[in-house]
Amino acid sequence: MLRFVLSFAMTAAIAIPSPTGADTAALSIDASKPGAKIDRNLFGQFAEHLGQGVYEGVWVGPDSPIPNTRGIRNDVVAALKALEVPNVRWPGGCFADEYHWRKGVSPQRAVTLNPNWGGVTESNAFGTHEFMDFLDQIGAEAYLSVNVGSGTPQEAAEWLEYLTAAQPTTLAKERAANGHPAPYKIAYLGIGNESWDCGGNMTPDYYLSQLKAYSRFVRSFNPVQEKDPHRMLEIAVGPGGDGPRWTQWTDAIMKAWHGRSWSWDMDGLSLHNYTVPKWPPSHKSVGFGETEYAQILKSTLEMDRIIATHSAIMDKYDPQKKIALVVDEWGAWYAPLPGSNPGFLAQQNSLRDAVLAALNLNIFARHADRVRMANIAQMVNVLQAMILTDKEKMVLTPTYHVFRMYVPFQDATFVPVSLDAGAYTQGDITLPRVDAIAARDKTGKLWLAVTNLDPNRSVAVQASLAGLTPRSASGETLTAPRVDSVNSFDAPSAVAPKAIAARIQGAMLALTLEPKSVTVISVEQ
Ligand code: AHR
Repeated sequence: MLRFVLSFAMTAAIAIPSPTGADTAALSIDASKPGAKIDRNLFGQFAEHLGQGVYEGVWVGPDSPIPNTRGIRNDVVAALKALEVPNVRWPGGCFADEYHWRKGVSPQRAVTLNPNWGGVTESNAFGTHEFMDFLDQIGAEAYLSVNVGSGTPQEAAEWLEYLTAAQPTTLAKERAANGHPAPYKIAYLGIGNESWDCGGNMTPDYYLSQLKAYSRFVRSFNPVQEKDPHRMLEIAVGPGGDGPRWTQWTDAIMKAWHGRSWSWDMDGLSLHNYTVPKWPPSHKSVGFGETEYAQILKSTLEMDRIIATHSAIMDKYDPQKKIALVVDEWGAWYAPLPGSNPGFLAQQNSLRDAVLAALNLNIFARHADRVRMANIAQMVNVLQAMILTDKEKMVLTPTYHVFRMYVPFQDATFVPVSLDAGAYTQGDITLPRVDAIAARDKTGKLWLAVTNLDPNRSVAVQASLAGLTPRSASGETLTAPRVDSVNSFDAPSAVAPKAIAARIQGAMLALTLEPKSVTVISVEQ
């Protein structure tokens, strides 16, 4: 992917679109007031054994005519490398609570069933070693979700010993015999998934008794992880959205953590919150109009209040913010594509999803002191995917482009932006017209991400920049003719980033945002 870099001279030579007729937005950015670190783990991915998310999307097998490395698609690996994916959550989701790791490590794999997702057979061809190989190929850390619902602490403990033991235990020797003598590193451990529902329909108290046992007995033995800050971080099942059922769950887990003994601990509490205005999901992922665009964006903006609600409960028991809120399932959940297996959760990905992704990433960044990890659902071919595949073909979605444009925000330091967002109204829905975040990367460079939600009007942005001496600005913008424009296998670049002109005048940055667009600008000093 090309990042467009325009020097000051070039920027000055490029015609700035006339703001005449555009609405205006005044932003003020003070780079001398740094906030929290925007943890790179906020840009995590989620790959479940579901539909074509793993099989076909990642794994084609070593004998496939599709170019692969040890069975893993080369095109998908190359695309994900450009996203600098920090971590991948695997193997589920609901699948994780029915997954038995032993069936996916021996040379002879057991064929099982996937009752959660379409009732199809599970070949177990993509197991522990294949997942770790995939992570190695894309350069990401492992976020392993262990089976609490139908497994035992012993099964999970043995999986971790198999993965991480350096000493010559029987399990470590089995790992070596299966091709990997060196211990693997598991950076993050999820203890169950949605244990309040598909993970076993547990009460908070029942789940807590499980959490304590798993936290105590499921250990990483990898020598590099034995001491802080390298130890494996454990993430407990947290709330599933909005409302009293979920605030009670958060309260119960955090209260127990507050009163914990030496024998168990946790580092994160997960939050699952999909953009799905009603259940079952009925919004179409393509072939919709402005009303549905506005409805989905209104729904997605609720993420901010939901995070704030659960953060406030966490603050009560953990004012030092030791426990991260981990939004490890988020994204748009639409009606299945006509003709697809409804259990495969296949949907298209439009410009609306790009705007939605930017809004959520901005929300996470604004809560970066508490929200330190997030995983969009899901990486390939499932729900709000980065990548869609069809046999040998692959297409990058609008959501992919937003994740790629936001790479500079990984581990950058949040910088406050104040703005008069204005309003965009569609029927009885009124939304902010503009949304923006800013951050400084490790080199001190300022990055600004601005989204124009309004699908009809451009916005002329005037941003005052305090705390730095701006010299030039450059960037790229993502938009398309329609709110439901998509990238298809026949037209893979219908929604693709392009260069945008930005001008520095003294301490002001000026640019014009196209309607329904996501823009990322860097400011050189
Ligand atoms: O992402 C699809 C499913 O949504 C996951 O398996 C489950 O955790 C959630 O309900």
